[in-house]
Amino acid sequence: MNTIDTNLDPREHPKQDVYGVIGNPVAHSLSPLIHAQFAKQAQQSVYYGKLFSETDAFEKTVETFFQHGGKGLNVTVPFKSRAFELCHHLSERATAAGVVNILWQEDGKYYGDNSDGVGLVRDIENHPIKIKGQRILVIGAGGAVQGVILPLLQKQPVQIVIANRTQEKAQKIVERFLPQAKAANISLEAIALKDIEQLQQSFTIIINGTSSGLEGASPFTEEQAQHLAQTIQQANEGLAYDMVYGKPTAFMLQMARVNYHVKDGLGMLVEQAAEAFEVWRHLENQHQLNTASVLEMIRKR
Ligand code: ATR
Repeated sequence: MNTIDTNLDPREHPKQDVYGVIGNPVAHSLSPLIHAQFAKQAQQSVYYGKLFSETDAFEKTVETFFQHGGKGLNVTVPFKSRAFELCHHLSERATAAGVVNILWQEDGKYYGDNSDGVGLVRDIENHPIKIKGQRILVIGAGGAVQGVILPLLQKQPVQIVIANRTQEKAQKIVERFLPQAKAANISLEAIALKDIEQLQQSFTIIINGTSSGLEGASPFTEEQAQHLAQTIQQANEGLAYDMVYGKPTAFMLQMARVNYHVKDGLGMLVEQAAEAFEVWRHLENQHQLNTASVLEMIRKR
């Protein structure tokens, strides 16, 4: 397979069910490697490629893909909201997230789902740190964060605090999910990022959902990172999770210095892909796919 071929055409693979990832850019995507492993594990005849779309041509590119026999698309930056708008039918978790990363067609209608949040939750619990009973600090209030709040709530933490540079955006997300949090007796609050040092509770899970890593920065000052570390009872008890992947981010390096375990979002990528594969292929037993071996392979590549 040509790894930089981003012009996926289902007609070129007539003997296989064709899936792909659509994005801009998309050449860097690891999804084809991941899905090829799942297809092998499940012994299914699936081809998964990359589909580049010009920003103004997303809807047309999607339509052409399905007209040519494509079975399903993963949607990545910057098209997740546009995919949401396109859908005639949305899953509960896609509705909650407000964005779609799994798209397919049935009887000419678009169906959308979202597996990013469940991917994050599964990867955290592979750590292994169980979310139930923990206090979670989520940094950021963009689309990435909105997509993970419901799956986190469903795992029964005692508290989630969303901290964002612009506090109003965090407050909006809190208002959106407050009914579910209240029903499950979970405290859900928003604060301004600059007020982190006012938090006195112990946050064993800290998730960076901001795009600060793209600027090479951590969302925390050194003082804020140290303050959070001091609230943890035992050294090495906490997990600092960055939703992006690639080389260790400024956030990961900073949190490692204050003795948090750190993790990047590569496991989340693999887990959300597994969920997409299972949704598309109607696999009932979600443990049929071995995500750990795929993650190991991707890390070693
Ligand atoms: P995405 O859809 O990937 O979540 P987004 O909607 O642009 O992207 O959101 C980016 C998030 O990163 C926002 O929460 C943003 O904070 P603001 O809402 O205040 O803009 C946050 N962010 C970006 N750069 C940051 C930085 N240097 N420090 C802290 N937060 C940052």
